[in-house]
Amino acid sequence: MLVLGIETSCDETSAGIVRDGREILSNVILSQEIHERYGGVVPEIASRIHITELVGIIDKALSEAKAGLADLDGLAVTSGPGLVGCLLVGLSFVKSVHLARGIPYYGVNHLEGHIFAGYLEHQTLRTPHIALVASGGHSNLYLVEDWSRYRLLGATRDDAPGEAFDKISKHLGLGYPGGPAIEKAAKEANRNYIKFPRAQMGKESFEFSFSGLKTAVSVFTRDKSKAFIEEHCSDIAASFQEAIADILVRKTMMAAENFGISQISITGGVARNKRLRELFLERKSSGIEVFFPSPELCTDNGAMIASCGTFHLERGERSDLDLNAVPYLEL
Ligand code: KG4
Ligand code: ZN
Repeated sequence: MLVLGIETSCDETSAGIVRDGREILSNVILSQEIHERYGGVVPEIASRIHITELVGIIDKALSEAKAGLADLDGLAVTSGPGLVGCLLVGLSFVKSVHLARGIPYYGVNHLEGHIFAGYLEHQTLRTPHIALVASGGHSNLYLVEDWSRYRLLGATRDDAPGEAFDKISKHLGLGYPGGPAIEKAAKEANRNYIKFPRAQMGKESFEFSFSGLKTAVSVFTRDKSKAFIEEHCSDIAASFQEAIADILVRKTMMAAENFGISQISITGGVARNKRLRELFLERKSSGIEVFFPSPELCTDNGAMIASCGTFHLERGERSDLDLNAVPYLEL
């Protein structure tokens, strides 16, 4: 089954072609760089870029896969959660192709798409497993009871970890997107420079909170001179990154242990972070396997949406023309 997946929920315009849910024939991703100058995603600009770029990106994905629209058995598109104007671009495009060509389509939940990035790449990842989706908008911990059966164990009460990376990066003058900027600054720095707080949210809780950590960084820098902050910027960045990684690893491991699950999958933009990956591997107890998709599949991309859509289309599930974009769609 050959499926084209389209992702336009935020600031990546992407199209991927996947065969039988697992084999990536192409995965073209345009990360919209214009938002860097604003220090965050400007929704209206993002939607407009999706409009102008999407057709070219899809053409490129088809040509890299040596396929045409006539070869496609299905279409998959993110229908939520995300920025509504952005979602509508991909969704309207897919509905048009569906209507004109009669190709069946399925509206994918973006969070389920991220979980399928693990499925797409790792044949040995089974269910049940624990999945952490850590991105710019989410910090969701799931017990994946079966593919397409998810139990949400916990989420963030305030900021998502990617959002915290972005805000602290801006605060330290390191630029946008914050994750890669902080990671780069932290590379050779002292991660034990300051012990920033790790919000536990109760001993057995799977909930996250990153706003206290954000405040702690601002409080620390508030009365320091510009010269001091410049000198210690990388140590502050490393200590902040360590606090986020520590809490993500701790809660995810606790979920695996509490539910007696031996496999963990970490996805979403924040899963690109090398220190997070290292800490998971350092802390995992024997008998627990930890899976990370390759960096390209952690960020928003069309291939993960195609893979997830294939799963649903193969089960005979179809979306109709009246499907709407849902900004706060839950999984
Ligand atoms: O999954 P994603 O591409 O989009 C959303 O669905 O949100 O995640 C984007 C987020 C951004 O906040 C970005 O700063 C963060 O992922 N990110 C990282 C890294 N690369 C991207 N965070 C930490 N370390 C990274 N290397
Ligand atoms: Zn995402």
